[in-house]
Amino acid sequence: MWRVQLHKINFDEREYQAVKEVLDSGWLTISEKTYSFEAAFSNFLSNGAKSLAVSNCTAALHMALLACGIKSGDEVITPALTFIADQNVTQMIGAKNVLSDITSMEDWSADPDDIEARITNKTKAVMIVHYAGFACDMERITSICKKHGLLLIEDCAHSPGADYCVSSENVPKERGQPHGTFGDVSAFSFFANKNIAIGEGGMVVTRSDELYEKLKLLRSHGMSAQSFDRYKGRAVSYDVVSAGLNYRLTETNSAIGLVQLAKLPEANEKRRLLVEHYYKRLDNAPSISIPFRRFSRGKPNYHIMPVLLSAETDRAKVIQSMKQDGVQTSIHYPAVNMFSAYKNIVNPAPKAEYVSAHELTLPLYPDMTVDEVNIVCDSLLKSCIG
Ligand SMILES: Cc1ncc(COP(=O)(O)O)c(C=O)c1O
Repeated sequence: MWRVQLHKINFDEREYQAVKEVLDSGWLTISEKTYSFEAAFSNFLSNGAKSLAVSNCTAALHMALLACGIKSGDEVITPALTFIADQNVTQMIGAKNVLSDITSMEDWSADPDDIEARITNKTKAVMIVHYAGFACDMERITSICKKHGLLLIEDCAHSPGADYCVSSENVPKERGQPHGTFGDVSAFSFFANKNIAIGEGGMVVTRSDELYEKLKLLRSHGMSAQSFDRYKGRAVSYDVVSAGLNYRLTETNSAIGLVQLAKLPEANEKRRLLVEHYYKRLDNAPSISIPFRRFSRGKPNYHIMPVLLSAETDRAKVIQSMKQDGVQTSIHYPAVNMFSAYKNIVNPAPKAEYVSAHELTLPLYPDMTVDEVNIVCDSLLKSCIG
């Protein structure tokens, strides 16, 4: 249907083989593949990260709030420019969402000054998102959380494989500190359009032994042993140590995750080269600006390709015109108060709202070709002129 679609999975024989192995093993639920995926992910993040594979990132965020002891009446500072999962999980546990604005039209990550200004005596946690895989100012945000005794939850849905380092001018050749290793708890998404794509899945990560134990119980009904332990004869029965949920990941998805994790550095590098080409084509285009273009805090993973259209450009018309050219686009993200469930949220975040009204996301995926980038840019430039 599309000449160029928004995203495409980069599966090859390895993913098929990995799934076949699980199916042939006859064991589908949490066991060796999942434990291997968790170990590989922890190793990939290093810095003391302990990972638990879960059914999706929303589950990971929900577990993060529960494990951190956030409860009804507490306030959680959440990003105004993010996917609604961040607000939904906060709302679901009865806490109040306090939206924090982005920094500027060039830097769409949470503004540390704005976060600090929104802290009250009810604030218990700060949630941030590394939008498009570009790091927030973690030095400032972690120090604000420390100063005010707040928990930090990193929404890393966009950012597996992205690093943070302090100065944009001074990006070291070696790895910086991976996203997901700053927060008390971090949440990754492996949804079908993500840099690690397994359909539905996620990872919840912490560096704290205490939170890890809580998260482990939350993931699986608070049970002291799993079916696999009983199958292996390691346990006869089980206790329920605390109330919990079923947010487990299947073995087939974990097997795909292991393959996707191994492919991630190369896939992220392919994204980088494509984004460089986008920059070449769009840098001086009238009516278009590109966030995070002149700086980044470390190495991004280029999860999506967002642009900002000028206030005079009619975005709906551009989307329609690009659709006619066979180019799929998207919006990351509509303003929170545009959704019926959140229409009464009184919490101005004017910069994020401006971006929500004028942002356009262009296609990007590892196996995209430069010719396809050119098709998208030709269509965008033509559509913006009208
Ligand atoms: C920023 C952000 N947070 C959270 C989520 C939720 O992820 P999942 O679909 O894995 O629950 C997404 C998914 O699109 C996202 O983009």
